[in-house]
Amino acid sequence: MVNNRIGQFHGSAFSRLADLLGPVKPPAGLAEINMGIGEPQHAQPAMVAKILAENAALWSKYPPVNATPAFRTACAGWLTRRFGLPAGMIDPERHILSIAGTKEALFMAGLVAVPETKGRKRPVVLMPDPFYQVYVGGAAFAGAEPVFLPATAETGFLPDFAKVPAEILDRTALAYLCSPANPQGAVASLDYLQSLIRLARRHDFILAFDECYTELYYTAEPSPGGLEACARMGGDMANVLTFHSLSKRSSVPGLRSGFVAGPADLIQAFLKVRTFGGVASPLPLVATATALWNDDAHVAENRALYRRKYEVAQRILGNRFGFYRPDGGFYLWLDVGDGEAAAKRLWGEAAIRVLPGGYLGIDGPDGGNPGRQYIRAALVHDVDTVSEALQRISQVL
Ligand SMILES: Cc1ncc(COP(=O)(O)O)c(C=O)c1O
Repeated sequence: MVNNRIGQFHGSAFSRLADLLGPVKPPAGLAEINMGIGEPQHAQPAMVAKILAENAALWSKYPPVNATPAFRTACAGWLTRRFGLPAGMIDPERHILSIAGTKEALFMAGLVAVPETKGRKRPVVLMPDPFYQVYVGGAAFAGAEPVFLPATAETGFLPDFAKVPAEILDRTALAYLCSPANPQGAVASLDYLQSLIRLARRHDFILAFDECYTELYYTAEPSPGGLEACARMGGDMANVLTFHSLSKRSSVPGLRSGFVAGPADLIQAFLKVRTFGGVASPLPLVATATALWNDDAHVAENRALYRRKYEVAQRILGNRFGFYRPDGGFYLWLDVGDGEAAAKRLWGEAAIRVLPGGYLGIDGPDGGNPGRQYIRAALVHDVDTVSEALQRISQVL
């Protein structure tokens, strides 16, 4: 017997993509460009190699599960600067939890938040659809029923929580929200975040705000965050956890380090789960991560580079495939009619790997899937490579 709580849900969009494209051969002599995975390829900040080397002696130590005081202070300092929080709102000792990247932590949020029953019924976990696939694992392995909220062009690419029936909200233990959203790049406004926080408090559920793309915004004002919404509502962080990562902010997806922030009771409960099941980030990585959270200059350069690539995309794609410049993130979410067919053609005729949008969505009982007509292309390579890739895409499709 094995635990089959994940049931009919797919584990990984990327293994499905490998199955889809396995039998298709890309044209010989054409360099392959992988836009399927959101793996930042910008040059990593020079300080990374330097600080790692300077701290090499620390490989001989078991790292503490909640990293170091300097790390937690750097995280609290960044949160305060980035979201304009009042001084003292974030206490590094009570409100910050080190994690080995947000992936595992978003999964573990289910273990932190989902009780055996809620109101004597099976708990629910709400999530946008399409969605980062880890959310469904976080829900299902914690024993909850995942409930998918369409995040389509009609809803501004964000889930409409106001439409969720009260019966479902009363059973809800946890809700995920990704802003800027993967894959559509939509950014939730402060009003949206505040309404959601009020809803969560009314129905007593926890919010997991996945803010791993929060530094990649292209709007006049920085994209708002969950704790910023709390600050505007008087500073109480009840029911809110925010998830932060260096993978996109500093282009170091291999440096497995991030943090969760929120009220002391939730951070304490999360620490307990991580004490059993979490990997503590090694101390040389923690020292490097500390320096990265303390520096914003490299992030501004990173953001400017993505912005340039959206300008290039706009020039090449114009208004074809429903192209739009998103408010955040680093993806193109292109309406190609049939995402799987387009992905196969792009691989077979242009050596471009993209992800069929349907692999990020869920097949509804009516057979519909809000991602099916889309492809997701990650603008993670340098400007010239992205430009080459988009020209091939526009020729083939
Ligand atoms: C929406 C979203 N959340 C979380 C993650 C996980 O990032 P990491 O574990 O590198 O922090 C990703 C990675 O692609 C993502 O797209």
